[in-house]
Amino acid sequence: MKIVITRRIPEIIKQKLDANYTTYMWPEENVPIPYELLLEQVKDADALFTNVSDRIDKNVFQAAPNLKVVSTMAVGYDNIDIGEATARGIPVGHTPDVLSEAVADLTFALLLSTARKVVEAMSFIKADSWRGWGPMLLTGQNVYNSTIGIIGMGGIGKGVAKRAAGFGMRILYHNRRRREDMEQELGVEYSSLDNLLQASDFVVMLAPATLETRKMIGERELSLMKPTAILINTSRGSNIDETALIAALKKRKIWGAGLDVFEVEPIRADHPLIGLENVVLLPHIGSATVATRMEMAELTARHILMGLSGERIRNLVNP
Ligand code: DGY
Repeated sequence: MKIVITRRIPEIIKQKLDANYTTYMWPEENVPIPYELLLEQVKDADALFTNVSDRIDKNVFQAAPNLKVVSTMAVGYDNIDIGEATARGIPVGHTPDVLSEAVADLTFALLLSTARKVVEAMSFIKADSWRGWGPMLLTGQNVYNSTIGIIGMGGIGKGVAKRAAGFGMRILYHNRRRREDMEQELGVEYSSLDNLLQASDFVVMLAPATLETRKMIGERELSLMKPTAILINTSRGSNIDETALIAALKKRKIWGAGLDVFEVEPIRADHPLIGLENVVLLPHIGSATVATRMEMAELTARHILMGLSGERIRNLVNP
């Protein structure tokens, strides 16, 4: 049986798949497999080891009549046609939980660096612009004792809330369903979306990408935020209307944004966000720690092996 792996993965994980199966692995670390090649490779594939940047649509499933399992090295699976997989009886696995703390760390890193202009300050030194201490030079926003509003209260939201508590923050959250367990455990307060946007100094988008969350933050929502507020997104770019965000940042309707994800990735040097001063931009590295990515790769491989042996896979996405 054949496993298609759409990106170079650590050798130690690949060996586990090689032990009993034929594998095809796209050898690049940082460049997605071309879609046409993917269609070609899946023709005789029994399993597909994929990731966030592959489009696994109906055509891919149609091209792969022998496919028995799809496993993505990500928590998000908005790039996969789950309806088509389910209709064909193909289980799809993903990697929740193992990345929650790493993404919560990165979310906080982005929040702090946007609030305190960390990247701008380093560029200031590199440009040899530092002539002396200035009373209002590179002044940012307070984080300690401020209010954070978390949109999407799952495992990553919980991790962010725990970190926010350490910073003495008031923690509001908005979620599809109320999380009374977390309210009791972490002292977080449920809020309507509009109230969260109006009251928060930091609005943190962590919702999964679905039809309901598409462009959930647009012009109207941005206009509800404080002019001193900062928007952080470590979920999916599609959750925010990027055109509206760029306009709000340009007009200083909000103070800044820290983004790890974008409507279309990768963004290139001519993207309008790059010319703005009040942003910190990262190349989708939320879960990128060595230990977390190893765990994600390991779990993704385990799901493939479970699927191929007919076992129910641990983190199943299909309804
Ligand atoms: C995920 O897991 O969905 C992340 O965005 C990829 O690191």
